[in-house]
Amino acid sequence: MDFTSIGEVMVQLNALSPGPLRYVKYFEVHVAGSESNIMIGLVKLGYRAGIVTKVGDDEFGKLVLNFLRGERVDVSRVKVDESAPTGVYFIQRHYPVPGKSTVFYYRHGSAASRLSPNDIDNDYIANSKALVLTGITPALSDSCREAVNKAYEVARANDVDVIFDTNIRMKLWRNESRARESLAKFLSSKIVFTNIEDLGILFPGDSVSDAASKIISKGSTLVVVKLGEEGAVAYDSRLNTYRVGAFKVPLIEDVIGAGDAFNAVFIASIYRGMSIDQALLYANAAGALVVTVRGDVEAQPSWRELEIFIESCRKAVMLR
Ligand SMILES: Nc1ncnc2c1ncn2[C@@H]1O[C@H](COP(=O)(O)OP(=O)(O)OP(=O)(O)O)[C@@H](O)[C@H]1O
Ligand SMILES: [Mg+2]
Repeated sequence: MDFTSIGEVMVQLNALSPGPLRYVKYFEVHVAGSESNIMIGLVKLGYRAGIVTKVGDDEFGKLVLNFLRGERVDVSRVKVDESAPTGVYFIQRHYPVPGKSTVFYYRHGSAASRLSPNDIDNDYIANSKALVLTGITPALSDSCREAVNKAYEVARANDVDVIFDTNIRMKLWRNESRARESLAKFLSSKIVFTNIEDLGILFPGDSVSDAASKIISKGSTLVVVKLGEEGAVAYDSRLNTYRVGAFKVPLIEDVIGAGDAFNAVFIASIYRGMSIDQALLYANAAGALVVTVRGDVEAQPSWRELEIFIESCRKAVMLR
């Protein structure tokens, strides 16, 4: 594998109409999870990527496996747990904040929450180019946190790059200091993705640039702060700053998944040898594309589609 990851893959039930879920009559079925979204994004860009997870012995588990296989993600390390269900979550759109989405999890005690160090195949991690982790999996359970810690140690011991997205989900952690303590070690990863909200939890009271410089001093070489509709800013190991504004999109359908698409394209661009500025531009394009549809991965682009999108935006600006 070029890239491997560990995390829960769930069935996403996305509200077809905007507004509070209690009034929503129809939901659309998708398959998603931050880590698998990133792996799918990387496959679309020509890389080989695999996910370590567990699904239930149920219809949704079969759906998750079919979907991952269909997207050509390696599922050779996915296990079926007969005693726990596949996780599910719902997305409420445009309420109470128009243009934003809210997630409601039904994943506690799921098959993936039972991942443990026994599910980590050392060779699978050691033989990949990079291990991609996010702050979500360590929040799922103690055994998940131990599994991620083990994978991290295996990667470190075998000179495998580690790429980390802080992705702090307070609905899972419930307690900020627990999140801060559990995630601290991953901040030395080669590339660290984060956002302003997460930096506020990890480095309370610090400015974005002070927090980025603390992450760099832990050993990271590239810190990328995603800024939603404001784009993103990156800091390299010398604390040079790179900034790109977001693309303007005509409609926002569902912003969930934009960050994962951004990560996939940024990682692929850097591993292809592109400049940080170019990687930020491409990643921003991927994030913009994903907010225009429901579902996290359906609008993740290929290289060709990225170029078409960026070219069309340039033309629109020239005509204005
Ligand atoms: N409304 C938008 N319009 C255009 N582009 C957007 C918009 N929202 C997000 N993006 C793009 O997607 C990227 C990632 O979005 P976002 O900042 O929400 O990710 P995130 O920090 O990973 O979010 P999350 O809290 O869901 O993990 C942004 O940096 C930007 O490039
Ligand atoms: Mg994110």
